[in-house]
Amino acid sequence: MQPKATNIIWHEGEVTRAERENLLKQKGVILWFTGLSGAGKSTLAVALEKELTAEGKLCYRLDGDNIRHGLNNNLGFSPEDRTENIRRIGEVAKLFVDAGVIVMTSFISPYRKDRDLVRALVQPGEFVEIYIRCAVEECEKRDPKGLYQKARAGEIPEFTGISAPYEEPEHPEVVIDTARLTVEEAAQQLRTALGERHAL
Ligand code: ADX
Repeated sequence: MQPKATNIIWHEGEVTRAERENLLKQKGVILWFTGLSGAGKSTLAVALEKELTAEGKLCYRLDGDNIRHGLNNNLGFSPEDRTENIRRIGEVAKLFVDAGVIVMTSFISPYRKDRDLVRALVQPGEFVEIYIRCAVEECEKRDPKGLYQKARAGEIPEFTGISAPYEEPEHPEVVIDTARLTVEEAAQQLRTALGERHAL
């Protein structure tokens, strides 16, 4: 999308990101959860947020269903709208990184190119792609919001995994298979993987 605004000039502040990060004793980073609806993205982001907060880290969660109530309430689920959804979230997440916050985003984000565009918005190492992997059959069995049933009945068009695509990450930093793990086990695995990668 071409920028529409002209005659806009960047205005520098007098407090740097490094100063904010020193204050917080942490580095800003995007923990980008991706996967099918019902795979466990939001559940694991909530669990991780709780754990990291207990460790004294400042975190903030951006969640698909929640953001679509406000900032992105003018977007639907066409490919174009999903791309715009992820573009906006990427820009918001970038602001949080600049603020020095650990930002966790849980959006299906089904298109590889959209996720890669967000990755390119920040410095290497500041975008950690976390693939919450779960077969569509298992997500459909869980169906926590009853949406797969509606999608099968033809009541929700373009439903990811049923009538709209999900492009698996090719080189995610972390993969968590939720099908055979309890929430606690999956959260533990995720925390360990982030520690091993020195992601935080
Ligand atoms: S994304 O594809 O643009 O990344 P996002 O994560 O914001 O999607 O929203 C997905 C959530 O919206 C799902 O968890 C589900 O609750 C709801 N939803 C409603 N309609 C659809 C649909 N057609 N496809 C996928 N999810 C949908």
